Amino acid sequence: MMLPLLLLATQVAALLAQDVVCPCDKPELCKPIQGEKDFEVYVFDVGGKSWKSYDWSMVTTVAMFGPYDPELMCYAHSKGARFVLKGDVPVSEIVHRDNRTAWITEKVQLAKKLFMDGINIDIEQPVEALSREYFALNDLVKETAEAFHKEIPGSQVSFDVAWSPTCIDKRCYDYHAIAAASDLIFVMSYDEQSQIWGECIAKANAPFFKTMSGYAEYMLLDIHPKKMVMGVPWYGYDYPCEKFSERGVCTIPKVPYEGAPCSDAAGRQIPYSTMMKQVNGSLTGSLWDEAQHAPYYNYQASNGDIHQVWYDDPRSISLKAEYVKKLGLRGIGMWNGDLLDYSNNTIAEQQTQAMWEALIPK
Ligand SMILES: *[C@@H]1O[C@H](CO)[C@@H](O)[C@H](O)[C@H]1NC(C)=O
Ligand SMILES: *[C@@H]1O[C@H](CO)[C@@H](O)[C@H](O)[C@H]1NC(C)=O
Ligand SMILES: *[C@@H]1O[C@H](CO)[C@@H](O)[C@H](O)[C@H]1NC(C)=O
Repeated sequence: MMLPLLLLATQVAALLAQDVVCPCDKPELCKPIQGEKDFEVYVFDVGGKSWKSYDWSMVTTVAMFGPYDPELMCYAHSKGARFVLKGDVPVSEIVHRDNRTAWITEKVQLAKKLFMDGINIDIEQPVEALSREYFALNDLVKETAEAFHKEIPGSQVSFDVAWSPTCIDKRCYDYHAIAAASDLIFVMSYDEQSQIWGECIAKANAPFFKTMSGYAEYMLLDIHPKKMVMGVPWYGYDYPCEKFSERGVCTIPKVPYEGAPCSDAAGRQIPYSTMMKQVNGSLTGSLWDEAQHAPYYNYQASNGDIHQVWYDDPRSISLKAEYVKKLGLRGIGMWNGDLLDYSNNTIAEQQTQAMWEALIPK
């Protein structure tokens, strides 16, 4: 009497497996991507159809931070690029092993069902050094990587870290252990004014030397350059100036953050596409700050206030990309791929192409 029951169980399993239908024209496009490219170009996708205009000659991984788009999965796979899930969970909820395992199992099942190639763990929460959460986070990354690698051979598990490992925004993680346990860390070399300790003035989102000091700190923790992907911003900050000096210094409203007296929260994040429509008609046009190696401009809002806008452009990004090569990093990526103007006109096309090309070190 046991045999038919067993058969039934197998049949049910087979039926369940069939439930997951490959949405691509060719069934092989649903297979996970294998192998490593020499140079990683890591793109965050936040939804919409801009992905159709990405420069697929360079993209190696797309992280899904918008809704699931089966067409994007099939397309990425047809280009040999990985398509990975987003993983975000309150660290307090994964302190106990069972809770962690439940979270990981759910993510692996989801990735399999959607034919995805891994996960990008984006925690971005304050964690105290040597706390229970600190160790739980290490375990989360280690166990997630083990589960994904076992269940989806060839899959990639990455983790997003702040521009520096020095407890930025109170994220006192065990960066060495996290890097060791994951396939790569995505270093978010932006929002570098999230804690302004000195004068409360508008500054670059990702100043060159500050950005570089972050990588030096990661390497001091004995994190191999090939574990690190440099993240560059395709957005900037628009600050209203409380005071605007004759020298062009913009004093910003005091918005404290994680112990610091002021922060970039006094400004507003603006896509590169928006700034490119505004810069030529601004008070100054694009200016270059030599100390920070970053472009900025000033404009007058309709209420009369002066604003200062700091951003990254092909010039500032190329300077950083050069260091991706010099330091021997794993690659480069951006937050996010959908912030450029992909519309059908010559100027937009040139600007967008220049931003993509700036990612590849000369
Ligand atoms: C951990 O899992 C248990 C059992 O499913 C659940 O009752 C509990 O609320 C979870 N704890 C947290 C902090 O999520
Ligand atoms: C703004 O000016 C620059 C430099 O003169 C030019 O290359 C660019 O096309 C202009 N942008 C727009 C939107 O007209
Ligand atoms: C761009 O415009 C041209 C000319 O109007 C048209 O032929 C082409 O299909 C358009 N491309 C896209 C992507 O909209």
